[in-house]
Amino acid sequence: MSESSNIPETPRPAAPAPDARPQPAEQGTRAPAHADTDGAPAHPDTRAPEPTPDSSHPHTPGVSLRHIRAKGEPRFPDGPMPDPAGSHFERRIRSFQPRRSRVTAGQADALQRLWPKWGLDIDGQQVLDLAELFGNANRVVLEIGFGMGEATAQMAAADPGTNILAVDVHTPGQGNLLNLADQSGLPNVRVGNGDAIILLREMIAPDALDGLRVYFPDPWPKKRHHKRRLIQPEFLDLAAGRIRPGGIVHCATDWEPYAEQMLDVLSAHPEFENTASDGGFASRPEFRPPTRFEGQGLEKGHVVNDLLFRRVQHREGNQPPTGA
Ligand SMILES: C[S@@+](CC[C@H](N)C(=O)[O-])C[C@H]1O[C@@H](n2cnc3c(N)ncnc32)[C@H](O)[C@@H]1O
Repeated sequence: MSESSNIPETPRPAAPAPDARPQPAEQGTRAPAHADTDGAPAHPDTRAPEPTPDSSHPHTPGVSLRHIRAKGEPRFPDGPMPDPAGSHFERRIRSFQPRRSRVTAGQADALQRLWPKWGLDIDGQQVLDLAELFGNANRVVLEIGFGMGEATAQMAAADPGTNILAVDVHTPGQGNLLNLADQSGLPNVRVGNGDAIILLREMIAPDALDGLRVYFPDPWPKKRHHKRRLIQPEFLDLAAGRIRPGGIVHCATDWEPYAEQMLDVLSAHPEFENTASDGGFASRPEFRPPTRFEGQGLEKGHVVNDLLFRRVQHREGNQPPTGA
């Protein structure tokens, strides 16, 4: 696997004890959650306001119901960790932007109630047994950046024989997707919290995935931010080692310069081949529902392009990375 400033190897930290969810004091000593390399603020999830608290508490008129957390007190004690990989993997250019968004009471409830059942903190500490994670040996596709998860839930409902490991750093979206999976009874969805690069590099075994979906990744339109775009040669090197031959990488974007970049780097990669016979873009396949960000792009008059590339056999001397 070739490495770059975008996806550097970092020493694997010592594995924590099985019950190593950080205690309040320990969290307080961590590096700022998702501190960014170009000075972006710490992850808003650690600072955003609390959702409406338990209505079983009597409410004195004029007295705020907001629970003020003690320093270091986790926001969702049973939910996603604020910074699952800790500072071990900090020195990387990130493809996501910290977003300050309010978690609704319904999302907070789902995070507390369903995270222990369907959530996965991306801590980079172990290689996953995907059959164990999903409770079956069905095919598994990874979706990076599901946003609020509506399209993910629709795809999971339409194809119950495919397991979807859906990953994002966006806490309200995680709560929303858990709620959708619960309401629609979708046992084939797991919700990952953290950086998908760390998941791919540290926690997915070679050839373990049947596909990869990246729908409307952040376009990073400014030139100085292009290095943050997810779909780059180094990312494809990593992905190629985790997707089994025949598996499909499916990307979609409404940002045409990024679509051109995706087409260039995917077409140039020796381990992927374009499924479009003319070597260009594909139209949206039926199984992909329109997504929230896609809708916003279409409203602005943007053109949407899909790309579907198949993973080809590893060539001799080009073996998959071990994940070490
Ligand atoms: C522009 S949104 C698109 C959301 C959704 N796919 C849609 O089309 O509505 C991109 C999402 O990717 C997530 N993201 C970007 N890079 C990521 C990474 N390395 N790991 C996990 N999530 C990431 C962001 O947090 C954001 O929610």
